[in-house]
Amino acid sequence: MHMTETISSARRSILRGFAAAAVTSLAAPAMVTEGLAAEGVATEGLPMRPAGAAIATDRAYWAEVKRLYAVTSDVVNLENGYWGVMAEPVRREFIRQSDMINYQNTYYARLRAGADFDAVRAKVAEAVGAAVEEIALTRGATEALQLLIGGYNRLKPGDGVLYADLDYDSMQYAMNALKARRGVEVVKFDVPEPATRQAVLDAYARAIEANPKTKLLLLTHVSHRTGFVMPIAEIARMAKAKGIDTIVDAAHSWGQIDFKVGELEADFVGFNLHKWIGAPLGVGFLYIRKDRLAAIDRDMGDEDFAETDIRSRVHTGTVNFATVLTVPTAIALHQQIGAAAKQARLRHLRDYWVSRARGFKDIEILTPDEAGSYGAITSFRLAGKTSKADNEAIVVKLRDSHKVMTVRRAGVAKGQCIRVTPALFTDEADLDRLVEALAVITGTKTG
Ligand SMILES: Cc1ncc(COP(=O)(O)O)c(C=O)c1O
Repeated sequence: MHMTETISSARRSILRGFAAAAVTSLAAPAMVTEGLAAEGVATEGLPMRPAGAAIATDRAYWAEVKRLYAVTSDVVNLENGYWGVMAEPVRREFIRQSDMINYQNTYYARLRAGADFDAVRAKVAEAVGAAVEEIALTRGATEALQLLIGGYNRLKPGDGVLYADLDYDSMQYAMNALKARRGVEVVKFDVPEPATRQAVLDAYARAIEANPKTKLLLLTHVSHRTGFVMPIAEIARMAKAKGIDTIVDAAHSWGQIDFKVGELEADFVGFNLHKWIGAPLGVGFLYIRKDRLAAIDRDMGDEDFAETDIRSRVHTGTVNFATVLTVPTAIALHQQIGAAAKQARLRHLRDYWVSRARGFKDIEILTPDEAGSYGAITSFRLAGKTSKADNEAIVVKLRDSHKVMTVRRAGVAKGQCIRVTPALFTDEADLDRLVEALAVITGTKTG
């Protein structure tokens, strides 16, 4: 059977299968259904989103959204930057697809997976605002960005490549590897702190000016260290005017920030689906603007696709089929809640704790309050506490004494810090816990 059907009927079929298996313990499930979930199935039980500007603070609506997530109550999880918890409809779809693939095995994979994967790829392309020929699925942003950075073939020995301290560690390493691979000069510079939009634009302009051999620039849309949202389009435009190509690390942005890929004005972008889109772990994609495909080498492990097909730029091998097949359900939920509403809610949650903690004794908030410069993530440090040990001690105190989960981040030029990342299931009471903990830790008296 190869058909589209609703998640509820799929779930019924699986439950029937398990009931039968319980009676005759080794019998296969009677029916494990195939097919991508139909549009809208992710949203079972989710009320209509109220219209208007008050969406971010509509407690009744977000309480319903929170109910879609089964998460531990042992700790308030404000470390949602690592990856995204699947909402229950997505998790159920993942289980359904896992059961299906285990049951059908190669009978499904050899005969029908290709068409389903094509449909997933088309869905991703449509959602991010790209043509399907501009998208190839990967196992995550790391794979996507390594293929883009390693595969970029427009560099000649003696050229320069440029990146900054806020870029992701393994992407910095990939840029460093270009020295041996391509014979280029690798330059790293520091983003100013506090990072304001203008200060950042000026810093990139200065770095480009100071390094006239630069031909390739790495940019990170949302910093995993501080949450700062880079003015990507402006920097990419500035670079292009000097003949510099830009590779954008959008691992953290799509789903946290509301945008379509064209708005970045970059030709090469690596994305995640398992962070803010909420797909199962192990899926992302790369984007190469249609007319720039030739600038990225084909994957050395691929001779299956034509040189002119973007899929020749990725050769993952056997993937977790269920993960990929669950992507449309994750996107359906993302779209039902709405990219703009998610962004507004996440910014509200960030503002809720930052506006209270900003005045606390010794707290330095690393991400500015400027519109457009932040999403869910913001980092802080206590004045003078820049070491690993200083910041780890605070993370441990928050976790063990106050039951608030955060994470220490290194790599910011001015010193280590602590990252706070709420999610769609975070509410104001969770953030009150953080604020109270910070008041205790800093010795700040609150009203
Ligand atoms: C900015 C940034 N780039 C790249 C990655 C790599 O993503 P993944 O490990 O999901 O492939 C991450 C992961 O946290 C990230 O934050």
